[in-house]
Amino acid sequence: MKNLSVVILAAGEGTRMKSAKPKVLHGLAGTPLVRWVLSAVRQLKPESIHLVVGHGAAEVRKELSADGIVFVEQKQRLGSGHALRRAAKHLLNFRGDVLVLCADTPLIRPETLRRLIAFHRKEKNAATVLSGCFSNPFGYGRIVRSPSGQVKCITEEKDATPEQKLITEINSGIYCFASPPIWNAVSRIGNMNAKREYYLTDAIAILDAGGRKVGAYSGVTPEEILGINDRINLAAAEEIVRSRVLARHMADGVTIPAPQHTHVMPGAKIGRDTVLYPGTVIESGTVIGSNCRIGPYTLVRDSRIGDNAEISFSCLTGAVVGDGVRVGPYAHLRPGAVLRKGARVGNFSEVKKSVVGEGSKVNHLSYIGDAYLGRGVNIGAGTITCNFDGVNKNKTFIGDRTFVGSNVNLVAPIKIGADTVLAAGSTFTENVPGGSLGIARSRQIHKVRKKVTDRQDEQDSVG
Ligand code: UD1
Ligand code: CA
Repeated sequence: MKNLSVVILAAGEGTRMKSAKPKVLHGLAGTPLVRWVLSAVRQLKPESIHLVVGHGAAEVRKELSADGIVFVEQKQRLGSGHALRRAAKHLLNFRGDVLVLCADTPLIRPETLRRLIAFHRKEKNAATVLSGCFSNPFGYGRIVRSPSGQVKCITEEKDATPEQKLITEINSGIYCFASPPIWNAVSRIGNMNAKREYYLTDAIAILDAGGRKVGAYSGVTPEEILGINDRINLAAAEEIVRSRVLARHMADGVTIPAPQHTHVMPGAKIGRDTVLYPGTVIESGTVIGSNCRIGPYTLVRDSRIGDNAEISFSCLTGAVVGDGVRVGPYAHLRPGAVLRKGARVGNFSEVKKSVVGEGSKVNHLSYIGDAYLGRGVNIGAGTITCNFDGVNKNKTFIGDRTFVGSNVNLVAPIKIGADTVLAAGSTFTENVPGGSLGIARSRQIHKVRKKVTDRQDEQDSVG
């Protein structure tokens, strides 16, 4: 959008979060609050974005250092009016509109902001407040209008008269101001109010008194401007995001029998006819194919899953799982785990940075790390790739169709050829050629026991 600049206020302390972390860095559906607001305003393509930081400024700057934002420091938190004034030096000569919003209202939609700006421009206002009519306006600033309906000022809950408290039109804390007139107005804001703060809301009355045209665009829902002040608000926002995301997936053909027990982060992709059973958490960066059964009780993060896969009671991070694969119950697929078509991993098995070839099975109590398993390999229960020698991670290679007996240790680096059988209970330290039977364990021997009557005599003599 041309002639548009944005100022996001994010200096507040967020005391009610009771946190060592700045409020705006708290995650909502896995993304820091401030990033939600940023992504909403980015969709408007403004000429510049300014972020007023104060409490925890260093951490906020670090998080957003690569985002092309102009940081404005507000060392003393003297109120929202004081906060905007900090941005004046960057925008004093800017001719256009300045959209001001708070970093702690993550659910604001770009469409709403677009409409606010369109209204502001159509009305040729010097200031337009985004307002809403709420059945419970408690705690919000109220929009005070003249009998003819002209916006006169905004009064805070704490400063409102009993009649003003009955006003249901509230201030969302989001404004569109004409620049440069706003800069003169903010410089004239005082702090003669209940909180002894420089209220940004006073800019409305100041502009109005100066003969400028001010207005309110009543177009916001309570949900959209849900402000995050404490962790209860955060959970409420989480719930809104969660149900929005699930509704979208259901509309696109995903079955979710228990939505209240299913979490899908924004950005995940899920194919048609896939079912997400209760207790499933799908984090962003995940792509799931069609006709899969995921869950119950499964975490999938940064992973790709093909079609027709079944995954239950398992944890996948950074894994790539092919079509028709079965994972779980109780499998852990760690970064770099690649399960080719029709492979199976389950029952307390862990796979890390390894390929499990087409149709291969790692079904019980195994650890497969830094390994390549060809096609049709069968890994017996309790088999371990001994990949770490204390210094280096070493590789294991197992050829196609090889059968590994139970409780085998493969001390890497090691290569086991194709069509090989490895005897149960063996510890291999050397390569095994293809097509052979490998045995690496001590031979079983049987010794003759002493006669039972002899032992009885011995015991008697001791007793
Ligand atoms: C503000 C509005 C109120 C509106 C409500 C909507 C004022 C005076 N009141 O109230 O009319 O209904 O938002 O949620 O603005 N901030 C700074 N520096 C400061 C103080 C605040 O950056 O010194 C930032 C905060 O981080 C926050 C925003 O400004 O993002 C709002 O400030 P806050 O004091 O919390 O205002 P509210 O009481 O929520
Ligand atoms: Ca073992």
